[in-house]
Amino acid sequence: MIDIRENDGGRTLFVLNTENTTYTFRLLENGQIEHLYYGPRIDVLSSDGLLEHHAFPPGNSSIYSSECGSFSPEDMRYEYSAPGKGDIRESMIEAVYADGSRSLDLIYDSHEVKNGKPELKGMPSSYGKEDEVQSLIINLKDKNGPLLCRLIYSVFESSDVICRRTVLENIAEEPLRIEKAMSMQLDMDPGSYVFHTFTGAWAREMKKSDIPLKAGKISVSSRTGSSSNRANPFFMISEKGTTEDYGLCYGFNLVYSGNHYEAAERSAYGKIRVLSGIQPEGFEWILDKGECFETPEAVLCVSDEGFGSLSRRFHRFIKEHIVRGKWQHKNRPVLLNSWEAAYFDISESRLLGLAKKAKAAGIELFVMDDGWFGKRDDDSTSLGDWYVNKKKLPHGIKGLADKIGELGLKFGIWVEPEMVNEESELYKAHPEWALRIPGKDHSTGRNQMFLDLSINEVQEYIINCMKELFSSADISYVKWDMNRNFTDVYSAALPAERQGEVAHRYILGLYRIMKELTKAFPNILFEGCASGGNRFDPGILSYFPQIWASDDSDAIARVQIQEGYSYGYPQCTYTAHVSDVPNHQTLRRTPLETRFNVAASAVLGYECNLSDLSSEELDVIKEQISLYKKWRSVLQFGEYYRCRSFSDATDKNSLESDDNKDAEWVIVSPDKKKAVCVVLQQLVHPNTQWLMIKPKGLDPDKKYRIRSRVFKTNLKDFGGLVNYVAPVHVKQDGAIHNILAKFVKMETEKEDHLMSGSALMKAGMRLKSAFSGCGYSEEMRFYPDHASRMYFIESQEEKDERTDKPE
Ligand code: DGJ
Repeated sequence: MIDIRENDGGRTLFVLNTENTTYTFRLLENGQIEHLYYGPRIDVLSSDGLLEHHAFPPGNSSIYSSECGSFSPEDMRYEYSAPGKGDIRESMIEAVYADGSRSLDLIYDSHEVKNGKPELKGMPSSYGKEDEVQSLIINLKDKNGPLLCRLIYSVFESSDVICRRTVLENIAEEPLRIEKAMSMQLDMDPGSYVFHTFTGAWAREMKKSDIPLKAGKISVSSRTGSSSNRANPFFMISEKGTTEDYGLCYGFNLVYSGNHYEAAERSAYGKIRVLSGIQPEGFEWILDKGECFETPEAVLCVSDEGFGSLSRRFHRFIKEHIVRGKWQHKNRPVLLNSWEAAYFDISESRLLGLAKKAKAAGIELFVMDDGWFGKRDDDSTSLGDWYVNKKKLPHGIKGLADKIGELGLKFGIWVEPEMVNEESELYKAHPEWALRIPGKDHSTGRNQMFLDLSINEVQEYIINCMKELFSSADISYVKWDMNRNFTDVYSAALPAERQGEVAHRYILGLYRIMKELTKAFPNILFEGCASGGNRFDPGILSYFPQIWASDDSDAIARVQIQEGYSYGYPQCTYTAHVSDVPNHQTLRRTPLETRFNVAASAVLGYECNLSDLSSEELDVIKEQISLYKKWRSVLQFGEYYRCRSFSDATDKNSLESDDNKDAEWVIVSPDKKKAVCVVLQQLVHPNTQWLMIKPKGLDPDKKYRIRSRVFKTNLKDFGGLVNYVAPVHVKQDGAIHNILAKFVKMETEKEDHLMSGSALMKAGMRLKSAFSGCGYSEEMRFYPDHASRMYFIESQEEKDERTDKPE
């Protein structure tokens, strides 16, 4: 994997190979390190032809020294960068010595190779066995001052991932101020590249944007204190023209849950510098003598087979080397969450009523969301007071959990331990534990304040409090919420000169808490949440195997949100719920079937008022859940392929129209014997009968049976058209219409075909005609606005392994 050639034309050449990719760099004459290549796997004979030739420095540029007068640092591809010696692009590291100087001259000193990974203290990072990952540590020394820098590369051969991080060490007597410490830098050759970001806001997370890197610098970042829904730390750079299945693209992520920063800068000479790490704005870290600062770990991956292949590499990596613990590969339960059914208005009887319905529908886990503690009747009070509200739950958590258990359901609970309301007993007892500037007004969000997790005593308090709560009843699941952004960042426990450390120290405190609690409760399934996806990142996933992806459960909005996540995260990490209509975030009505098809493409849950649903709807939900259980391991852990997206500008499978947008995706079992394909339409385009699906990822040589999910439609969905067949006039929504709708049930079209994998993937499968203003028949596809279909694909070679049998 790591191949070091000590004598490559008199200098050392480093070649880092994974199964399908190569990363290589070489020492320069002045001891700096030149990046040579990162891309699809190549055979590196030597650096010959990979090294750049610089006969003279470009006009009006600086040179490193008179001995190295043929090149300007501004025009080099470096493994790392620092200011002051002629590289005027954005730098990876910035520090200020006691004398105020900022010029850093980091030069190669030594290197070592290790099987496995050097430990990263206090922060999560990827993990792998000694035969899965090998690490290279490059030791750099500053010629200008007492600073050491280590560049750490961890090579995951079979995952095609290279992780990078940086360690800075102060070897001076005096303190050193670090102002910027990025985790990684990648200097790329000139070319036509596109920067793909995943930005958004509450209820509309992970919107992909494609920004051509023409000139200057493009950056995304967060200063919310969390990895944020404003800009996820996952991003991609692709060569112009890259598609889902073809072309060169790079993906990057950060194993970190706090403020982060990602940038791509096109230099005056066309080269692209990519950086990722802790947000430098507002950040400072004072290193005392002998101390080290360790950056979070960055994850790098490249593929020349398009975005789809890049995504699946990331998925495998996150599944195998980020998520850990009992739930890593274990099927996740189908849950019912009380939030949108009851909000704060919960009581034992109300919850038990919901739980009974849940059990009857086949749900496995009942989750009591916000509202169960202190005086929590709205969001203005009680965060911090983690004792049960006896008025709502007279028999306590244990009493409720036992009753839920007797129904045959597992029990889960909601907490938001990082927060405190001013209206709380905790705040009255410990106002100094809140993150605020003493003597100054404090801004709030959702009426709450952060507890100062940089303080050890606060960490201990949360750990003990949660330990007591989690062991007070039979709790199988915890939803860990976090509902605000940083303001007035200041810790009363730190001196003035260290206030730039607070945001990072908060995250270190959070990680300690998460580590302790997940260690103490290895069987609990923890789900992260931050007003939905305001903290969705590999750092959280290192402790909690799944995260609530968005507070927006509207199926149409969710298609885009889940598609956004699918670029960097496997579907077993994001949870999705079927909720009521009109949807509580958008007021849109989508069919129950579509709500299921979208939520079932992730970790499925329900968040609706089952007590108010009709028996017909409950029957449908029961069928959905039983189907999901049969296909759950494919849906949760299969390989994800995006086939069509709402954002496809010209879609060859439908008419070119702005209002007719289709999405299609397929999830394939790793052995390619089973797959589930979903196709979904945003809005109807009139007079379009034709549609086909074209799944990906199947075995071209296998024979597959492909069947549609058949479900019942409501006669009332045809409105007054019923009068075309009714012997007497039926008034829309009148009594006869309602009675007819109750008894006349129409099933959707049946698709049942036998096709080879190659035919399915290359020719596609043509679906039955959609209703187009006329031509109703039983074989017609009822396909109004927001309609969707789920298709089940099974290899016919292994009949005994068919998925029809229950789990
Ligand atoms: C925000 C979460 O995203 C919701 O799902 C819900 O748990 C509320 N917080 C409760 O306050």
